Amino acid sequence: MPLPREVSQTGVAALSALAHPVSSSGADSVPDLQDLTRILYFSAGITKQRTYPGGEIYFRAAACTGALYEIELYVVTGDLSGLKAGVYHFNPAEVSLGLLRKGDFCGNLSKATAMEPAVTYAPTTIICTGTYWRNAWKYQARTYRHFGWDTGTLLANMLAVSAASGVPAEIVLGFVDAEVGRLLDLDTRHEVSLCLVPIGRRSEISRAPRELSALDLETIPLSQREVEYPAMLQIHEASSLKSKEEVAQWRGRQHVLPSTTATHDSIRLQPLPDEQQPKDTIEQVILRRGSTRTFDRTASITLAQLSTILDFATRGLPADLFESPGGQLNDLYLIVHSVNGLKPGAYFFRREQSALELLKEGQFRPEACHLGLEQELPGDACVDIFFLANLESILERYGNRGYRAVQLEAGAIGGRMYLAAYAQRLGASGLTFFDDDVVNFFSPLAKGKSAIFLLAIGRPLIRKPQQGT
Ligand SMILES: Cc1cc2nc3c(=O)[nH]c(=O)nc-3n(C[C@H](O)[C@H](O)[C@H](O)COP(=O)(O)O)c2cc1C
Repeated sequence: MPLPREVSQTGVAALSALAHPVSSSGADSVPDLQDLTRILYFSAGITKQRTYPGGEIYFRAAACTGALYEIELYVVTGDLSGLKAGVYHFNPAEVSLGLLRKGDFCGNLSKATAMEPAVTYAPTTIICTGTYWRNAWKYQARTYRHFGWDTGTLLANMLAVSAASGVPAEIVLGFVDAEVGRLLDLDTRHEVSLCLVPIGRRSEISRAPRELSALDLETIPLSQREVEYPAMLQIHEASSLKSKEEVAQWRGRQHVLPSTTATHDSIRLQPLPDEQQPKDTIEQVILRRGSTRTFDRTASITLAQLSTILDFATRGLPADLFESPGGQLNDLYLIVHSVNGLKPGAYFFRREQSALELLKEGQFRPEACHLGLEQELPGDACVDIFFLANLESILERYGNRGYRAVQLEAGAIGGRMYLAAYAQRLGASGLTFFDDDVVNFFSPLAKGKSAIFLLAIGRPLIRKPQQGT
């Protein structure tokens, strides 16, 4: 079923869309086909196309490791204005929905989430899945981390566009994996469900679960031959929830308490005041976004710009990870190269105090370049933001599913940083890194933590056109 090509713009400023999610416990709000199309397109749609010597590359709305786009979106919906109840698969190439099951299967998701309220009252829910081989042919077993990161960046867009569309949306990781897999009839050696995003709210309770038959749809092989990486199947199995009791337990867990140690040498964030914030709409910013390929090493950004990025990206994700809004699993560490108003050096972001604590002063461009896998991007950027987390305490509190949660949260905050940077006409790029060297660089404070994610922010290098060519 083709989705409408012309969808009305929300007109909502990107920063405002990041800052003001619509509460899922508030008034009823049911998306129509226009809203759903906008949310799908600006999360996973094709936004640009480039010709390279080897052929065309189609880039999508959210950043993704290697531009391999292994995250698929499915829609499980009751009747909406313009869309009949069913289970659908989103096809970005055609901007269409492929019908997998006819009828209302929302009750099956309600059951799979042990009656999670946001899912139970949602008129429609988007499911994100990951297809191993699309990413693993290049990155091998590391793909499992990429599942979290790449779902996260996509979710940052999805939450912002839902907020701009006036509908609640929330990240739900608490579900019985096998039940969601059965609903989509996934071949779980190849493709697995990663998270649910209930969209909208309708006060009438959702329906009873329905019988599921196997779909047995034929699939086109991605390659003549695939390599299976057992570590990924094992970690997925070990972090799966098997029963509604396990789901209820997952939801009952407290979030990890933030560290609140007082600091001596810290600088408070100074975000742009409302009237100076850029007003470009969320749609304009998503269309403009694209990872910076070369940063201008001679350029700088201001403390106000950096503060705005940190502030808007870390206001708390609407997610079932936290009992109350505002929790965060990842800690942020920075290497500042050229930010007006900050001495160059390594910093720790004290989120509860909205302050940056100087850990060590100095110009660390060569070190940043090394930490970012010897790439030039982190050495040439104005600031590099490293995400580190105490995996041990997260796994203790959340069980093995905490591992999925911490990667996904990092991707979602990183995705928000991309949007907050591009809203201010700055550049950004996600990066891969040498895990242990990152932890050593930020130690002793980071001792015992694990490196989770890295984003470089700066000003893109604008090459002057060459004379006579
Ligand atoms: C988590 C993550 C890690 C990435 N790592 C690198 C990297 O190490 N080097 C690089 O040049 N680009 C990196 N990228 C950028 C991707 O290559 C880029 O997002 C992808 O090509 C899609 O292009 P776009 O972001 O311009 O839409 C990364 C992106 C993400 C989301």
